[in-house]
Amino acid sequence: MFSLAGRVALVTGSARGLGLEIARGLAGQGAQVLLNGRNAGAVAEAVASIRAGGDKAEELAFDVTDAQSVEAAFERLDRMAGRLDILVNNVGVRDRRSLFDFALDDMRRMLETNLVAPFELCRKAASRMIDGGRGGRIVNVTSIAGPIANVRDAAYTSAKGGLAALTRALAAELGSYGITVNGVAPGFFATEANAAVAADPAVERMLLRRTSLGRWGQPAEISGAVVFLASDAASYVTGEIIAVDGGYLSHF
Ligand SMILES: NC(=O)c1ccc[n+]([C@@H]2O[C@H](COP(=O)([O-])OP(=O)(O)OC[C@H]3O[C@@H](n4cnc5c(N)ncnc54)[C@H](OP(=O)(O)O)[C@@H]3O)[C@@H](O)[C@H]2O)c1
Repeated sequence: MFSLAGRVALVTGSARGLGLEIARGLAGQGAQVLLNGRNAGAVAEAVASIRAGGDKAEELAFDVTDAQSVEAAFERLDRMAGRLDILVNNVGVRDRRSLFDFALDDMRRMLETNLVAPFELCRKAASRMIDGGRGGRIVNVTSIAGPIANVRDAAYTSAKGGLAALTRALAAELGSYGITVNGVAPGFFATEANAAVAADPAVERMLLRRTSLGRWGQPAEISGAVVFLASDAASYVTGEIIAVDGGYLSHF
């Protein structure tokens, strides 16, 4: 039910962090995974680490916000793999600042990376999935910021809330082609991007109190939900966002 043998998957932002673990999880179930990031060297190292475990991975470095690079990357993908079965939109940037410190151009950049880029990648992936006639799977990495909110985080929260809404909208639009569109919403994960937050004792206390499992998520713990959504086990699941948050959203 969970085998992905013969499928081709693109995971954006997979040179490190949650994206790398998602790529590892999909490759572990037999998918050929195309890894992405802006730094080709870092992507190549990530590819090597997956291949070292005997799984299939290729490098597809590009900037998801650069229309020309995206176009060129998909042409390369067509030549390299000839099909696309699974797209995971994982790239996301965070910038915590108050409403009054956040310039309009910063907001536009946030939306470009966290919402406009996934929109365009969904469009490019879905057109290939439709042409291939085999359906497909899209998984968007949202956040617990979106359904809930905190202070000094309006730009990220609204971008991720928008990505969750895009997920539902595309599930509706693409369902008749056999394409499912779902999301995973990570809670607090101990990734490099969170190193500064992780060092803050106040955050640690809050996590122990607010998270049912009483701890940070380990990056590898994100991949099970994505493998499930990409696999035949989730053939009748679409328009859903699965929180992978140790119980944060359900706990008060
Ligand atoms: N970590 C958490 O606790 C947490 C919680 C909730 C949601 N999330 C979401 O989960 C996702 C992954 O988070 P993470 O913590 O693993 O992030 P991360 O450690 O910052 O990794 C981000 C990855 O994306 C790549 N990247 C960044 N901008 C890019 C661009 N414009 N084009 C292509 N690649 C780009 C980075 O490589 P380069 O910089 O080399 O390009 C890197 O491989 C994000 O969407 C984030 O919002 C994370």
